[in-house]
Amino acid sequence: MKMDLCEQSPSYVRSIAPYQPGKPISELAREMGLDEAGIVKLASNENPRGIGPRTRAAIEKAIGELSRYPDGNGFELKQALAARYGVDMSTIVLGNGSNDVLELMALAFLGPGRAAVYSQHCFAVYPLATQARGARSIVVPAKNYGHDLDTMAKAIDDETYLVWIANPNNPTGTFAKGDEIEAFLRRVPERGLVVLDEAYNEYLAPELRADSVKWLKKHPNLVITRTFSKAYGLAGLRVGYALAHPSVADVMNRVRQPFNVNSLALAAATAALDDMEFVARSYAENLRGMKQLEEGARGLGLEFIPSYGNFITIRVGKAAEIYKRLLKRSVIVRPIAGGYGLPEHLRVTIGMAEENEKFLRALAASLKE
Ligand SMILES: Cc1ncc(COP(=O)(O)O)c(C=O)c1O
Repeated sequence: MKMDLCEQSPSYVRSIAPYQPGKPISELAREMGLDEAGIVKLASNENPRGIGPRTRAAIEKAIGELSRYPDGNGFELKQALAARYGVDMSTIVLGNGSNDVLELMALAFLGPGRAAVYSQHCFAVYPLATQARGARSIVVPAKNYGHDLDTMAKAIDDETYLVWIANPNNPTGTFAKGDEIEAFLRRVPERGLVVLDEAYNEYLAPELRADSVKWLKKHPNLVITRTFSKAYGLAGLRVGYALAHPSVADVMNRVRQPFNVNSLALAAATAALDDMEFVARSYAENLRGMKQLEEGARGLGLEFIPSYGNFITIRVGKAAEIYKRLLKRSVIVRPIAGGYGLPEHLRVTIGMAEENEKFLRALAASLKE
């Protein structure tokens, strides 16, 4: 073939750097001839506790209906979410993971001639989704690794239609308090939609959890996104959602695939939402694991960014090299040089106590190697 067909895609698409996921356990086992059972993966901010029995039962029940298309409107899940948050069902948009609803926002509101504001060290999907629409990125330097909301507000220009904020942020784990977010919302022009990505909301201490859903009434340009992939333990099924003004939800629904959330995911998420005990235990386990990793990092004389999520970002120095040394010891974490701009740090998901212990031992050995 003479023609490079890649060249036929718009230049703004060609310039996208592909998303780098955490290395799967099976891939590391294949590459290094390691035993899968002995590998610890702390690379994708998943829930180490698996799923609860009620969720498992709901999935087993839904298997019987797999030859049918899912409910494209996700009625039962939306009804459960509406009851949980005291909102109308017309404000909810379901997605194939919250990643999907982020993409829907870009699809519905961005395009050439438009811009999006986001922070340095932000979640990788924001630049990806912005670029894929041919929109301009306005990247605001981070402050103490987190969002500099004051500078972000000032950076909004006449072409800005979207602002991406993750709270807590991934990969830095930083957090902005409710009153800071509210003050920011008051400064954003009506045209500018603010995506407040709360994927890690359930891991926040109760006293830090702001009632962000309440802000939707005052700020029709606010879109809150949440997920079942983290504290609810359903990352593999892919289900998340947005809460937005009905007219914003309406336009998002116009561009989504008719059956974007599969039937197992719908059944599992509806059951998981009800299992408050599972989420409470995930929170408690995460808190213990966070302390364990913080103490472990301190013990090794390493700095870390205080985190509000289910992961911690540790400054290890030559991170690319330490990452490889950890792989040899059957431990997968996440390098965050490339797109995230943190070449000296590794992001480590909080695992179960024995997984954290194995990571800390492997890290100590890797630092000495
Ligand atoms: C800040 C943030 N938002 C959204 C997501 C997307 O998660 P999912 O598509 O599994 O809901 C992630 C995943 O790691 C994340 O860290």
